[in-house]
Amino acid sequence: MRIQMLFILGAGLLVISLGKPARGFHPDVYTPRVPPEQLEEIQEIESPYTTSPERIEEGRKIFFGKGLCVTCHSKNGKGVRMPGHAPRNFTDPKWQDARTDGELMWILKNGSPGTGMPQRVGKVLTEEEGWNVIQYIRTFRGQ
Ligand code: HEC
Repeated sequence: MRIQMLFILGAGLLVISLGKPARGFHPDVYTPRVPPEQLEEIQEIESPYTTSPERIEEGRKIFFGKGLCVTCHSKNGKGVRMPGHAPRNFTDPKWQDARTDGELMWILKNGSPGTGMPQRVGKVLTEEEGWNVIQYIRTFRGQ
């Protein structure tokens, strides 16, 4: 009887501990990361800089350099395997279509809470560097 009770208790604890990390995670990669009450406003924010080969090149340097993006997002933009939430696959056209540049800037400024995605703009990057790296991320589409 006692052993059975311990077993039930143990199983219960296991369920609770397995459920916990899942709470901070997001349901799927296409669901917006921006909180719903800010979403519309953030989605409309556009880069003040037009896309150019020079800016894409600046963004590439940041991706492989001081942004440290490559350590998690990998050279080909598909992302490395890591414990917890997987980095985004930037080559996925469906994901590229799902996000506006404004949403990507929000992520760079805030990180993605509950995941390994750290805050970048305002910490290690200026806003202009952020927009440049976003131009570079767009080049992974469909690769
Ligand atoms: C320590 C690991 C790590 C580093 C460094 C990192 N990222 Fe991420 N990134 C992640 C993870 C994990 C996710 C997935 C987060 C999620 O699903 O919400 C992510 C998601 C993203 C997304 C997708 C957000 C969305 O709305 O779907 C973008 C854009 C992004 N990262 C850009 C960058 C850029 C640019 C850099 C460098 C300046 C960078 N990341 C550095 C781990 C990292």
